[in-house]
Amino acid sequence: KTIDSLGDLRGKRVLVRSDFNVPLDGTTITDDGRIRAALPTLRRLTGAGARVVVTAHLGRPKGEPKPEFSLAPVAARLGELLGADVALADDVTGPSAQKVVGELADGQVALLENVRFDARETAKDDAEREALAGELAALADAFVSDGFGVVHRKQASVYDVARILPAAVGELVLKEVESLSRATGDPERPYAVVLGGSKVSDKLGVIANLLTKADRLLIGGGMVFTFLAAKGLEVGTSLLEKDQIDTVKGYLATAEENGVEIVLPADIVVADAFDAPAPAGVVPADAIPADKIGLDIGPESGELFAAKLADTRTIAWNGPMGVFERADYAAGTRTVAQGIVDATANGAFSIVGGGDSAAAVRVLGFDEAGFSHISTGGGASLELLEGKELPGLTVLA
Ligand code: 3PG
Repeated sequence: KTIDSLGDLRGKRVLVRSDFNVPLDGTTITDDGRIRAALPTLRRLTGAGARVVVTAHLGRPKGEPKPEFSLAPVAARLGELLGADVALADDVTGPSAQKVVGELADGQVALLENVRFDARETAKDDAEREALAGELAALADAFVSDGFGVVHRKQASVYDVARILPAAVGELVLKEVESLSRATGDPERPYAVVLGGSKVSDKLGVIANLLTKADRLLIGGGMVFTFLAAKGLEVGTSLLEKDQIDTVKGYLATAEENGVEIVLPADIVVADAFDAPAPAGVVPADAIPADKIGLDIGPESGELFAAKLADTRTIAWNGPMGVFERADYAAGTRTVAQGIVDATANGAFSIVGGGDSAAAVRVLGFDEAGFSHISTGGGASLELLEGKELPGLTVLA
């Protein structure tokens, strides 16, 4: 159900769940992408004369109010972007929240304090979550689910409240689901998936599912060393998940059976240690010295990966190819990102999975318009690629 299904919203109080889990340096927001992504829904609701009450989380404060997890910096930034004051309640559903909501005029926006300051938000016990959802619902007449980054969480402000109030999907969730379904549904082929990031163990379900869906899997980032080790290669002191080697051997066998091409790097940029001041050089992927650590894919690999993307029609990318935050180890991620931009210009539909890869696109100075879709969801976009049903979406169906 879309926002239209909620009918005339003038003067109605609408509770919106947004994902404002933004990276902070102290109280400075270092990437406001998630706040900007929330604007279409908020503008639409204020334009319709609704009284908008936003609930969101920041970090994992473990059920207690902690000043460093306050949404105050978000309220300020949101106010700047909307060009209007956004009042911040200093509690989740208590006297301050009730006062702030009571004082809203038509077309105004208020933000409730970090919903994870209330332990019931993430409680396993249904009754506890439902109690908090009931308090949130009492602040509004309707609910709009727009926090795409949290739709994989069965939490009070995402799931339970949608069962109490008339509920609809917001513009962001709609756009995310439509875009991601171009990869999860019946993708135009060739369909290539680029996976990186540090751990294989974070992506087990995704890889297993992709081995039945994708035509090509391009692997880089810290997780690649577990793949190289599964092929019997020396990985030096690089990141290695020994307990996943057998699982990865199983993936390699399944890929062969299913005709899925697994593309591994040909060369690796190595250093003497993670915090060494400069790289030690580039080595072939099958000749990593025992005393070196791999921190990026090498130039030959970057070209290989870009070539494997050139003829594709659908691309999903999740996870950087190396430690891109440091200039010495950013080239692999940059080359792959450029390869995706070029393939997109040739007509491929490209999706950048949230979190680190979305940050990499911005940090490396790419124009976001070069990609078909940059997701705001980290875990949520991965779970969709994994083929899972997400509680925050099924509850709205
Ligand atoms: C995210 O950052 O991926 C979302 O905001 C979800 O946060 P969580 O992993 O703490 O639930």
